[in-house]
Amino acid sequence: MPSVTILPSGKTVEALAGASLLETILGAGEKISHTCDGNVECGTCHVFVHEGRKALSKMQRSENAKLDSIVGVGSKSRLACQALLGGENVTVELLGFSSGR
Ligand code: FES
Repeated sequence: MPSVTILPSGKTVEALAGASLLETILGAGEKISHTCDGNVECGTCHVFVHEGRKALSKMQRSENAKLDSIVGVGSKSRLACQALLGGENVTVELLGFSSGR
């Protein structure tokens, strides 16, 4: 069972493999924007993944295209609604600004 550490709070929660980062973050009681509820339309769930990127599901074309339209995207960027957990631990940073539309 992977654990997810959420920055900046530093809270660590156990998560289910196959769950999305968004579900896991919300389940941990952390606040994260998710305007389109996981439909890859808003980009507001943009996060940085600091550790465990390779353990997440591969980025699909729709996620990649949405990230391309967002300011402030970097190599650690994922959309939390699209990144599914594998079996390894992940450290994710919630962004303090709304980077999507
Ligand atoms: S919740 Fe809208 S793209 Fe993730």
